[in-house]
Amino acid sequence: MDIAAVLKFADDLVFAQTGKHLDYVQEAILRGTFKKRTYTQIAKEVYSSSSHVRNVGSDLWKILSEGLGENITKASLKPILETGKFYNYQFAIVKDVRSENITVNKNINICTKKARSPATPHNPQPTTKQPRIDLSDAPQILTFYDRTPELSTLKQWILDDRTHLITILGLTGSGKSAIALQLIQQIQSEFDCIIWRSLRNSPNLPALQTDLIKFLSDRQQTELPSIIEYLRSYRCLIILDDIQTIFSSGQLAGNYKPNYENYGAFFKQIAESCHNSCLILLGWEKPREIAALESSKNCQTLELNGLGESAREIFTEKGLLDSEKWSESIELYRGNPLWLNIVATTIQDLFGGKVSAFLSYDSLLLGDLEYLLHQHFQRLSEAEKQVMFWLANETKAVEISNKPKDIELSPSEFLKAVESLRRRLLIEKVQEGDRTLFAVQRAIAEYVKTNIK
Ligand SMILES: Nc1ncnc2c1ncn2[C@@H]1O[C@H](COP(=O)(O)OP(=O)(O)OP(=O)(O)O)[C@@H](O)[C@H]1O
Ligand SMILES: [Mg+2]
Repeated sequence: MDIAAVLKFADDLVFAQTGKHLDYVQEAILRGTFKKRTYTQIAKEVYSSSSHVRNVGSDLWKILSEGLGENITKASLKPILETGKFYNYQFAIVKDVRSENITVNKNINICTKKARSPATPHNPQPTTKQPRIDLSDAPQILTFYDRTPELSTLKQWILDDRTHLITILGLTGSGKSAIALQLIQQIQSEFDCIIWRSLRNSPNLPALQTDLIKFLSDRQQTELPSIIEYLRSYRCLIILDDIQTIFSSGQLAGNYKPNYENYGAFFKQIAESCHNSCLILLGWEKPREIAALESSKNCQTLELNGLGESAREIFTEKGLLDSEKWSESIELYRGNPLWLNIVATTIQDLFGGKVSAFLSYDSLLLGDLEYLLHQHFQRLSEAEKQVMFWLANETKAVEISNKPKDIELSPSEFLKAVESLRRRLLIEKVQEGDRTLFAVQRAIAEYVKTNIK
């Protein structure tokens, strides 16, 4: 019996017992069990904890055992499949989906079951909530070092404040996708449905909404309500990754490409309307309307900064030397995990792992980072490039009132460019007493000095 047939059969059987189809985790458990994987290995594949996957597995074996009248466990599933017993059961399931009456006709015993009725005090449902999850579009992240403060903030917004719209902003490699995956692992049991979609191919809004509804809807339904109705009826968590792809290059941050302006109204509707779900946006630029919406608790933004001290683990893993110099190098790249991984490889390759030799080199090495930074810079407007060039060549943080005369921008164009660069996290704000100063971090300044004239 191949895995597709097993999944189909198990789905029918679970539906017969519970009135629900197999969810993402249950499916992964069946696939994993088929391939003799452990719960820990399956948990990694679905970005979940071993204990959660074990609990879901235990519930699943109970449902299958109840349906088949035979004790099914993780260990016994494969042998049962190999003896071909499932074939007998498989042909005996008769479904009448429209009436939701399910008849399971097992070889000799004949039982008729109705889909499980909703939970009541007399009919308790299993306590482990199993959301339907689709993370097929999410990247795979193999290591995750501490992000406790950021995860606490996100959990407070989502679970306590019931925030509708959260934007996680950060430069490439800062770990936006990684933290969102970790968050899902920690809060998934609070949701009915979780879906991750990347906007990397710039889908237009109707195409994205159709795709989301396809997942959120019950497969049996023919007339599909609007997405907001799903967000009201179910507690859904939607993650939209790489949102910068719907914004124009060569303009100020957060300006939609032509034909993508309707995303703005969609985000606003999700922030302002009444529902019980959460949309998380991940990207390099803050959408234009978010700033105005942020005054309410329904809309929050997290600027993802470096990893801090836990970034040292990256250097430990790469086996670098001179640990007393690590903090200095980590600060040079602001604790960006991807950049540090790249730099650690360079230190290993060119300096034999000696961090002090790397630090004493004449100029800051960018290497493969140059390409990553180039992706950010090609999105800037001409006005932003002028401001970046000025700040990158300053030796310390400056007030914007120090604008040099050779920047040919009107005061309003200049301020808009500064604000836009802040929204891209390309310039840093430094508070010195009552003075607000701006600066460009060293790695970015190095890039600007060698690439922007
Ligand atoms: N908390 C973390 N601990 C360890 N490594 C991390 C962490 N966060 C990110 N990384 C590493 O950095 C890499 C980049 O992370 P991630 O893909 O989440 O960045 P991103 O901000 O989503 O970047 P992009 O904007 O390009 O999508 C990951 O592949 C992972 O190796
Ligand atoms: Mg990402």
